[in-house]
Amino acid sequence: MKNVLVTGGAGFIGSNFIDYFLKAEPECRVINLDALTYSGNPQNLVQFADREAYVFVLGNICDSELVKSLLYRYEVDTVVHFAAETHVDRSIKKPDEFMKTNVMGTFTLLEAGRCIWLEEKASTSGDFRFHHISTDEVFGSLGSDDPPFSESTPYNPSSPYAASKASSDHLVRAYYHTYGLPAVITNCSNNYGPYQYPEKLIPLVINRAINGVQLPVYGDGKNIRDWLYVEDHCEAIWRVLKKGRIGETYLVGGDTQPTNLEVVEKICELLDKRFPSSKNAPHRRLIEFVPDRPGHDFRYAMDIGKIKQELGWLPKHSFELGLEKTVDWYLPNPEWVKEIQQKQGYKEWISTNYADRGENK
Ligand code: NAD
Ligand code: DAU
Repeated sequence: MKNVLVTGGAGFIGSNFIDYFLKAEPECRVINLDALTYSGNPQNLVQFADREAYVFVLGNICDSELVKSLLYRYEVDTVVHFAAETHVDRSIKKPDEFMKTNVMGTFTLLEAGRCIWLEEKASTSGDFRFHHISTDEVFGSLGSDDPPFSESTPYNPSSPYAASKASSDHLVRAYYHTYGLPAVITNCSNNYGPYQYPEKLIPLVINRAINGVQLPVYGDGKNIRDWLYVEDHCEAIWRVLKKGRIGETYLVGGDTQPTNLEVVEKICELLDKRFPSSKNAPHRRLIEFVPDRPGHDFRYAMDIGKIKQELGWLPKHSFELGLEKTVDWYLPNPEWVKEIQQKQGYKEWISTNYADRGENK
């Protein structure tokens, strides 16, 4: 690895990954291609603005000429593809962009790789890799007693988001099998940690609880997710980049599966400890059960045996430690959240998603 094209590097996981990667691989150069959609935030990467090893390119992964020119110009040998529309609730309200970015954007990147790497062989190194970042949601929903997802679980996506990610995974595999494009896929469970856009459950709840706003729990709060601290995900991607076998898939997960209600209650307990005399304490009184997400997957769980055995990766953070670090990142960074919350697009989304659920604030 010398020149690494990261797509979607201004988003939550992408920006954490660039930070992790440039520390782990100081000899490498990162070219970050990001369209700065609502969830992309240049503030996440200000520390790299003047670094020679970091180049930011404002642009869309669906722009074929741009993508090819970047592979050519920077002699890119590795693509780490994060860019996507990522919020399930948004995909239910308006799926269009999910198909464009997640399906056609991935196709555009694969075609660029095929053209520049395989046909023109423009890169000097000749040792290429396309690492596709995917999700556990492609497998659908588990019942209470089902075994966890594994690399051989059949795809059965439920939401437009999950279907668009499943499509992108299929395209990546097709390019490997048909053209020999050297690709690897990781499917990861729910991430949390610094810089997560406050529409997702954990940052949403932290920031609403601090401000004494209702904490919306969908349905009965018994749905289960497998939670992984984002830094652990970044380490897993780095290990797969270094030693993962081409053509393979690796599942990445946190090995911790609380119910949504337990997640929200844990955040409330942490805030009670930080602010025992707040007028909002005990924060759990802010919890409200609201109408469920349509088609809401019940349970996700990951069998992480393959990545553990082959690459020696295991999550380093327990859920308790990761959550504490997350709360302790959001508390001293209210400006980061405020800047997002003041944007019209954020206010519109909150009202679109929660008005139907009885919110009038
Ligand atoms: P995010 O929404 O925080 O960031 C997405 C980034 O992609 C943003 O910077 C955005 O500007 C950029 N982007 C969107 N459309 C683009 C386009 N057409 N061209 C260029 N850039 C574009 O997302 P995230 O939570 O960091 O997720 C990153 C990846 O990880 C996604 O592929 C997602 O499916 C996958 N994933 C996320 C999770 C999770 O829990 N967040 C778990 C498993 C997998
Ligand atoms: O599983 C991996 C996926 O995790 C990623 O692929 C997605 O990009 C990422 O957004 C995430 O999807 P989820 O739908 O699981 O995340 P979200 O934070 O939106 O919701 C987590 C759980 O909390 C889910 O069961 C729905 C519930 N929820 C969510 C919100 C926003 C609530 O109960 N209330 C809420 O207000």
